[in-house]
Amino acid sequence: MYVPERVVTNDDLAKLMDTSDEWIQQRTGIRERRFVEPGQMPADLAQAACEQALEAAGLEVDDLDFILLATLSSQHDFPGTSFFLQEQLKAGNVPCIDLRAQCSGFIYALNFADGLILSGKSRRVLVVGCEVQSTGIDLTTEGRDVSVLFGDGAGAVILEANEDEDDPAGLLNATVHAEGKHARRLWIEAPSSGHAPCRLTHEMIDKKLHFPSMDGRYVFKHAVTRMPEVLRESLAAASIKIDDVDLFLFHQANLRINEFVAQKLEITPERTFSNIERYGNCSAASIPMLLAETARNGKLKPGQIVALTAFGSGFTWGSAILRW
Ligand code: UT7
Repeated sequence: MYVPERVVTNDDLAKLMDTSDEWIQQRTGIRERRFVEPGQMPADLAQAACEQALEAAGLEVDDLDFILLATLSSQHDFPGTSFFLQEQLKAGNVPCIDLRAQCSGFIYALNFADGLILSGKSRRVLVVGCEVQSTGIDLTTEGRDVSVLFGDGAGAVILEANEDEDDPAGLLNATVHAEGKHARRLWIEAPSSGHAPCRLTHEMIDKKLHFPSMDGRYVFKHAVTRMPEVLRESLAAASIKIDDVDLFLFHQANLRINEFVAQKLEITPERTFSNIERYGNCSAASIPMLLAETARNGKLKPGQIVALTAFGSGFTWGSAILRW
């Protein structure tokens, strides 16, 4: 994983808008987040995370067959972020794509990587979640309900075909869902290719349509229902009992959402791990960042079962079960 060095505390945000450290911590659990410095691009964050993943796996970039990059904050709408990452990794002609499923993007990407590997089309797939959100949020009082939540960061994993019958490690299941009728409850309205004759006008900018808007309570209610539901579904598909899971890693959108989910499933705090207090909501990057931190700090050990669950704009949601 990689996060930019610049730390932005809740008190720093309170200098820009009418908010407070107390409000943000109480409602979300966030204390600080990281923002990029001018000139630092999404592909730079992704590159740092991917190089660490390659090193940890003892692999070279030439060993990769596919690069899947999940993001909601692409470096350029056209063509995205993954192509710049591919260039920076010096990955030759390795195919790459951006995958867009917002905060559930990493789980969606695991699902795709699983398909590529099981079909025999790819042997090793680099899956990266990467977000630079700080450049796209309204840092005034008008945008405070959304802008205090988000942070910048990247995380990466490498999936490899495992033909060793004596080695049970791997992705046991990835289940994903979507329900597009809620898409306008958490979205960025402009630019849009459906706005003729021009995708982005001065008027749209004046109306702040280029910033995310969210019906927070509506999103919250759906998240606390869908996350336990899909987690149970994915566990059943993997034939794993909830009591056999060593570690639950939930998308870091709001600590209160995750406490609700844990309570519903009767999961004790020792079986979870959070980093939202330090990084905020890093959307598609949040789950691979959790994997990286828990693998490094010893909370996630080889052979353990880890359950991942996310919910996000679209609406999208999903869960994946891995034996580490
Ligand atoms: O990752 C993608 C998915 N996103 C999510 O899962 C986010 C889900 N939603 C949430 O996490 C919560 O809805 C929020 C944290 C965004 C908001 O918490 P809430 O308890 O639902 O607050 P609210 O929106 O109902 O607002 C309560 C009050 C309002 O003031 P009034 O109308 O009661 O006077 C807001 O204007 O808090 C005010 N408020 C703020 N005050 C200080 C909203 N944002 C802020 C802020 N600082 N940053």
